Formats: sequence, structure tokens, C-alpha cells
Amino acid sequence: MIDFWTRVARPEDMDAIGALSDEAFGLAFNSQDESRLIRQLHADGDSLVSLVAENDKGIIGHIEFFRILIDGQPIGAGLGPMSAKPGLQKSGIGSYLVRTGLEELDMLGETIVFVLGHQNYYPRFGFEPGTAAPFTSPWSGPHFMAIRLAPGGPASGTLTYPRAFSG
Ligand SMILES: CC(C)(COP(=O)(O)OP(=O)(O)OC[C@H]1O[C@@H](n2cnc3c(N)ncnc32)[C@H](O)[C@@H]1OP(=O)(O)O)[C@@H](O)C(=O)NCCC(=O)NCCS
Repeated sequence: MIDFWTRVARPEDMDAIGALSDEAFGLAFNSQDESRLIRQLHADGDSLVSLVAENDKGIIGHIEFFRILIDGQPIGAGLGPMSAKPGLQKSGIGSYLVRTGLEELDMLGETIVFVLGHQNYYPRFGFEPGTAAPFTSPWSGPHFMAIRLAPGGPASGTLTYPRAFSG
């Protein structure tokens, strides 16, 4: 177990978050699109919760949650991108960020969170394809999952992702 703490991301963290994201996604998928996505979500006011994990050397993890419209209403949330520093992965940083972020969204009154991601990773937090399936979205299939944080939210509807996802 490594020593780290989490906090809300600040505007001055953006360069470190971008560098971390480029490193983690670059290594995993040879992609640097995610840092652009994060910056644009923030610039457009579509970020809901943005958290970093930090140790005495700097930022070693990041998670982003953003607004999704359901039938045009601002009542949905999405998870992503998220990353943990290569070399420190598989030591609990990502899991801690997911759980902390979901608690934060619950406290903000959000009822449902969608994710498009690894089907071996997100189910451990309660995400499942069955919860996402009744919603119409650009995505479908086993990688498209959702978790219900509280009863009473929408059970179906059409999802509109933020502008950042079309760029
Ligand atoms: C995915 C990621 C954020 C997880 O963070 P982490 O701090 O390594 O995760 P944790 O330590 O909390 O959890 C480790 C577990 O996740 C699993 N895991 C990590 N990456 C995974 C992946 N790509 N697919 C499936 N499982 C994965 C590990 O096998 C491990 O499983 P175990 O607990 O059964 O041993 C990190 O690996 C990362 O930055 N990857 C590159 C970027 C990325 O893929 N982001 C997510 C896009 S959907």
C-alpha cells in the first residue's frame, strides 16, 4: 500500500493532470486525446467533480466526472477519463478515486453515473451494463455501464454527452 491523499482538482493542477493523463493513456493505448478532453470539459463548464490523488512528489492520480443530459435535463453524470501514474498502478489509487468520486456525486444529489470502460474493472464498484442498457446513447454493449446512486432517478432516456466528446 502506498501513501497518498485525494483532493478536489484546482485550475493550477491542469498541466500536471494533462501530463499524467498523457503518460498513463500513452502507455496503455498510445493515446493523448484524454488530456484534451479533460481540458475541454473544464473549459466548457461540463466538469462535475474532478479529483486528484497526490503524494509528496505530486499528482499521481486523477478522475473526472462530467454532466450528461438525459432527455435534455442535467440529471446524469459520466465517469472519465481517469488515470493512475504508471509504476504506481494496481496499488489502489484508481479504486480510491472512483469510490470517493461516487460518494461526492451522491452528496451532490446525482442519481446515476455512466461509464464506458473496462468490463473487468468498473463492475467492482457497482457499475453494470444492465443499468445502462435502457438508455439511448452513442454507446452500447458490455463496456457501457452505469451505477445507480439513489432511487428515484430516470430509468431510461436519451443521453447527450458534453461537446468535448464530439471534438
Ligand atoms: C485504469 C486505472 C486508472 C486503474 O487505476 P489503478 O490505480 O491501477 O487501479 P487499482 O489499483 O485501484 O485497481 C487495480 C485493479 O484494477 C485492474 N485494472 C487496472 N487496469 C485495468 C484494465 N485496463 N482493465 C481491467 N482491469 C484493470 C487491475 O488488474 C487490478 O485488479 P485486481 O484488484 O483484481 O488485482 C489505471 O490502470 C490507468 O491509469 N490505466 C491507464 C488509463 C486507463 O485505462 N484509464 C481508464 C480508462 S476506462
